[in-house]
Amino acid sequence: MSKLLGKTALITGSTRGMGRAMAERFAMEGAAVVITGRDEAEGAAVEKGIREKGGKALFKRADVGIFDENVSLVETALNEYQSLDIVVANAAMLALGSVTDLTLIEWKRAMDVNLHSVFYLMKESIPHMQKEGGVILVTGSIAADKGFPNHAAYCTSKGAVRSLVKQAAVEYAPKIRINLIEPGPVDTTLYRSSAEAFPNAESILDEVPALVPMQRTGLPDDIASAALFLVSDEAKWITGSGFRIDGGVSAKG
Ligand SMILES: NC(=O)c1ccc[n+]([C@@H]2O[C@H](COP(=O)([O-])OP(=O)(O)OC[C@H]3O[C@@H](n4cnc5c(N)ncnc54)[C@H](O)[C@@H]3O)[C@@H](O)[C@H]2O)c1
Repeated sequence: MSKLLGKTALITGSTRGMGRAMAERFAMEGAAVVITGRDEAEGAAVEKGIREKGGKALFKRADVGIFDENVSLVETALNEYQSLDIVVANAAMLALGSVTDLTLIEWKRAMDVNLHSVFYLMKESIPHMQKEGGVILVTGSIAADKGFPNHAAYCTSKGAVRSLVKQAAVEYAPKIRINLIEPGPVDTTLYRSSAEAFPNAESILDEVPALVPMQRTGLPDDIASAALFLVSDEAKWITGSGFRIDGGVSAKG
């Protein structure tokens, strides 16, 4: 259990859901983890849980839609643990609404949190990774290829991060590996909130598992397993790639 021994990992959106599962998994593999999200109580609980199991963790509250807060996340990792080897840009919001429904403020806020934050984190962390090397993993979504109702900003932002990952991966290889994971339906707070955007909001959560070839929605840990592989040295020749982790949803005709 030491795939990430001696590494420091910053994982955004790690107070709950799949980011939390990644933080817990990475810490158990020896990484010192910087946990971040918007909820102080949730973040403190994740930090405490990891420390009680003998792992290294620190929670810092941040709004990743604000540039300066990303700067301070990177500084926290460097000040506390003297290195930054792994960044997972995982936090995101839904901003439900169609193109005509969304206000300009809602659209721009979704881009700040889901897209610009990835740019901000890359911009701040890459200079520290260029000497010793590093890994960046971005959480996209199968929504990048779909037209889900009332997900205009969300789908758009997830398409854009896919392009950013490819461009940056080429630009910063071979020192830094940059990849994308694109989860399908994973049972989290965000997933449950997204149901509200569908005409069959009352029943959709019960209907989804049967539509998944693997016959169930994903668990945060299903995503953490893939993330662990991609940030570890086992994936040392993988960069610029996107990985669907969706129980077979995208493969289905
Ligand atoms: N759950 C799914 O079905 C699904 C599918 C595809 C992709 N995703 C993506 O997975 C990632 C994680 O989502 P999840 O399902 O685990 O959601 P979640 O609701 O369980 O967790 C979201 C996390 O992001 C944080 N966050 C939200 N807005 C933030 C902000 N402005 N600043 C800082 N932190 C913020 C929250 O505090 C929380 O820690 C997201 O990028 C999401 O788009 C989720």
